[in-house]
Amino acid sequence: MSLPDLVHRLRAAGCVFAEEEAEVLTSSAASPGQLEEMVARRVAGDPLEHVVGWVAFDGGRVAVERGVFVPRQRTAYLVELAAPLLSAGDTVLDLCCGSGALGLALARRVPGLTVHASDIDPVAVACAARNLAAVGGSAVVGDLAAALPPAVRGSAAVIVANVPYVPSAAVALMPPESRDHEPRGTVDGGADGLDLLRRVAALAPTWLRPGGVLFSEVSEDQAPAAADAVTGAGLVAAVHHDEEREATVVSGTAPCN
Ligand SMILES: C[S@@+](CC[C@H](N)C(=O)[O-])C[C@H]1O[C@@H](n2cnc3c(N)ncnc32)[C@H](O)[C@@H]1O
Repeated sequence: MSLPDLVHRLRAAGCVFAEEEAEVLTSSAASPGQLEEMVARRVAGDPLEHVVGWVAFDGGRVAVERGVFVPRQRTAYLVELAAPLLSAGDTVLDLCCGSGALGLALARRVPGLTVHASDIDPVAVACAARNLAAVGGSAVVGDLAAALPPAVRGSAAVIVANVPYVPSAAVALMPPESRDHEPRGTVDGGADGLDLLRRVAALAPTWLRPGGVLFSEVSEDQAPAAADAVTGAGLVAAVHHDEEREATVVSGTAPCN
């Protein structure tokens, strides 16, 4: 299949970035047969990242597979906020880790971190375990921090937790690629979208070391309520916003004494 033919097929199927997608597909396929198979899946509506098995995130590749939440580019903002606080030997918890993209990106930026990741979905954990193996990290199945090693309590320099934060009523309004291909549990954050964030804020003081920081992505309009939840848990809250990526992150710093 020629490149112009491929672009034409993708565009006809409604792919907005047909040229870019054609390049990703061509460079990911090992043979013409595999390319045809990938194009057929993409044209049928599978997310590009699930079709090729990877997504570019924070300057590196992260493996993703069917059923696993595709890391969003805006979430690299959270990584950029957390990385400068870390140095070799520090411990990072990646809660609701999905593919493990956040822990992996931090470990790539700051070699020598110990990354413990956790997710409730075994498919996501298997994917995260594969990604994190490259940086010596681990991933376990469990509700938030429940399955993490108890010995890690009180030692985390940073907790990153990109929890599901879409209000239940808004899930139906998400783009079809998410609605049809990402399990509802990866996005649905309850009535106001903050159910999981409140639970993470409540557990964070148990796992952070003094001065350690929790980072969680929210939508801009959720930020005041998210900051209240973080403050209510005894952490010092701050809201960070990146206009260009439309990314908002709430952080909570554990007291130093
Ligand atoms: C929005 S996705 C984020 C994934 C990843 N951190 C990222 O940014 O690409 C949220 C993840 O939370 C997981 N999750 C939902 N409820 C959970 C819970 N109670 N405990 C642990 N993980 C949960 C989902 O399986 C999903 O992988």
